Amino acid sequence: MEQSKCLTVKREPFGKVLDGISIELFTLSNSNGITVKITNYGGIITSIITPDTTGRAGDIVLGFDSIEDYLKPHPYFGCIVGRYANRIAEGKFKVEGQEYSLAKNNGPNHLHGGIVGFDKVVWEVKEVTESDNEASLKLAYLSKDGEEGYPGNLSVTVSYSLTNDNQLIITYDASTDKTTPINLTNHSYFNLSAGQAKNCLDHVIKLNADKYVEVNDQYIPTGNLVDVASTPMDFTNPHPIGEFLDKVPGGYDHTYVIKKEGTKEKMAYVAWVHEPLTNRIMEVYSTQPGAQFYIGNFLDGTLIGKNDIVYNKHYGFCLETHHFPDSPNQPSFPSAWLHPGEKFNEITIYKFSTKSY
Ligand code: BGC
Repeated sequence: MEQSKCLTVKREPFGKVLDGISIELFTLSNSNGITVKITNYGGIITSIITPDTTGRAGDIVLGFDSIEDYLKPHPYFGCIVGRYANRIAEGKFKVEGQEYSLAKNNGPNHLHGGIVGFDKVVWEVKEVTESDNEASLKLAYLSKDGEEGYPGNLSVTVSYSLTNDNQLIITYDASTDKTTPINLTNHSYFNLSAGQAKNCLDHVIKLNADKYVEVNDQYIPTGNLVDVASTPMDFTNPHPIGEFLDKVPGGYDHTYVIKKEGTKEKMAYVAWVHEPLTNRIMEVYSTQPGAQFYIGNFLDGTLIGKNDIVYNKHYGFCLETHHFPDSPNQPSFPSAWLHPGEKFNEITIYKFSTKSY
């Protein structure tokens, strides 16, 4: 008799997008009561349900119940961001002697892949796996040469894998036929209280970073990496997000430079977050050199999400692991170029637990 697999993937229709294409919703479940829902529209994580310290289940990411809401403007809730996450100054870069102009969708600059980025396309469902070790979904997308102004046909896969030790592992792979910049991330907004706290400012956070990427008033890097020590940017010791917020004009929206112990180390610890009302903990690990710590400064109460929650300013925070913004124009930053014949591979892990006393 075939044994039932302990981790499962439920697959169901999730409606249609504007051009009539049917999309689906996948629910990954493990045996500890964690479920992760993902749609192949934009690769959006629509829900992550985890138990709190008393065993009560709650949804810890911002988002909507229906595809119709995801088709309206929203600030990248839960989606895959690409071809280049964050900003490229004036939407321009030069490579191999040729200048490229990208779509400008953030004032004079390019943001999160342009007007139709990877967050607004239908991804092909490549693989669904249920086993004793993981429940996983692999999505694929071919970004054509010239899309949003980028060079080269870029073939991308993103896999989401939920394990029984409560990790959600997101793996990004890509290859290209022309040299292109690439920067892929997931833009989930978290509020680990699952509806208990009115914003994320009491979450206690520790970031494994001694420096952050300095930016100008358009959030474009100046090229300097600045020490966090003795500044309100310092999260090397855990403390509430809101503690020094009044000293950070505009609020946290910065790329932290993740500390790596050795030059050979690729996967590093990024962050530890504790939510005091429910005692949920989230840890983040990644192979990427940076993490955008963004605390929903631009949320303004006009969006109403799942469970009728009003998304006011600072309702959720993001830890978008990625390369530094504007790397194509900043030769001193870690390279974000992908050349033909190379294999792009980055991995980010979100690990969920609760604090026990
Ligand atoms: C950026 C913010 C932006 C937000 C939503 C974040 O990744 O750093 O500046 O407002 O995404 O678009």
